[in-house]
Amino acid sequence: MPNPLIVSSSGLSASVEGVKKAVEAGAGAVVLKSLFEEDIAAAVEQTRTEVSESHPEAESYLQQMGMILEPDEYLSFVESSVRLVDVPIIASLNCYSTNWWADYARRIEKVGANAIELNVAPLATSSKIGASQLEDELVAVVELARRVVKIPIAVKIGQYFSALPHLVVRLHQAGADGLTLFNRYYRFDIDIEKIEFKPGNPLSVREEFTPVFRWIGIVSNLTNLDIASSTGIHGAPDVIKSLLAGGDAVQLCSVLYREGLSAMAAIKENLETWMKRHNYSTISDFQGLLSFKKRGAYYQRIQYVKALKELST
Ligand SMILES: Cc1cc2nc3c(=O)[nH]c(=O)nc-3n(C[C@H](O)[C@H](O)[C@H](O)COP(=O)(O)O)c2cc1C
Repeated sequence: MPNPLIVSSSGLSASVEGVKKAVEAGAGAVVLKSLFEEDIAAAVEQTRTEVSESHPEAESYLQQMGMILEPDEYLSFVESSVRLVDVPIIASLNCYSTNWWADYARRIEKVGANAIELNVAPLATSSKIGASQLEDELVAVVELARRVVKIPIAVKIGQYFSALPHLVVRLHQAGADGLTLFNRYYRFDIDIEKIEFKPGNPLSVREEFTPVFRWIGIVSNLTNLDIASSTGIHGAPDVIKSLLAGGDAVQLCSVLYREGLSAMAAIKENLETWMKRHNYSTISDFQGLLSFKKRGAYYQRIQYVKALKELST
């Protein structure tokens, strides 16, 4: 990557035109909009219906094969994006409850994606499924992906893991090459007059970044996984914090929706100005200076006792 700014998987990276604009605006890499499991499932269903109507005997074959799918639009999107730009193109697959996506991972590799980001979103809604089972399923997804593709695999997860360092090491052992911490899942809200749900704010605010750099700092030295921060990165200071905590790159989304793709140029310029002011000529000169490995005691301070004492004096 020419620089550590990645455009996140989102509507900004949902078309070849969007990818082109992102790269022209200075993105160091682009994660394409995810292909969602439900899209694949819908395509399977359509194919199955078409096949079973024309060749009823073919359906069981189709099932045995796992799939013969055609949302080829995504594949040609990946292929065209790779051809068009000279920064890494990372395809994104939402995969969790089934193995259908594995065939897509193979196809995505074949059409030339430089890497795949697995967008995995386990949501604990059952009292019968414990944390370790959810984590086992996540690890199994990565193991399967590792078996089917050779290109680098990044795993994008949400914030809600109780023992993240343990999980990170397992994901590494399962064959991941990178981590994206964290996905910011769709947030819904409640309309208290209509007694009904309503959409929440799809875009983050900068304050959401604070817990992100805490976790980046804690896990950055555990393995040699490349780590990209995601959620709440709204300016050069957040990029710098992420790198100081030991992250390798940052993903930008909400800031680009709010301020436009030109925000990347300003972030880069401010990063360079800060580096010059601190006499750093490369990112590795300061990367990880404030990681857990270097400054563990500070990370242990998760209670407010001292801060509250200071406030009351
Ligand atoms: C409109 C929109 C669409 C998104 N679509 C995806 C997606 O397809 N796959 C994915 O992994 N993340 C998706 N995300 C999440 C972003 O990639 C990103 O992780 C999240 O917005 C947090 O980063 P931010 O604070 O910079 O916005 C989407 C976010 C937005 C706002």
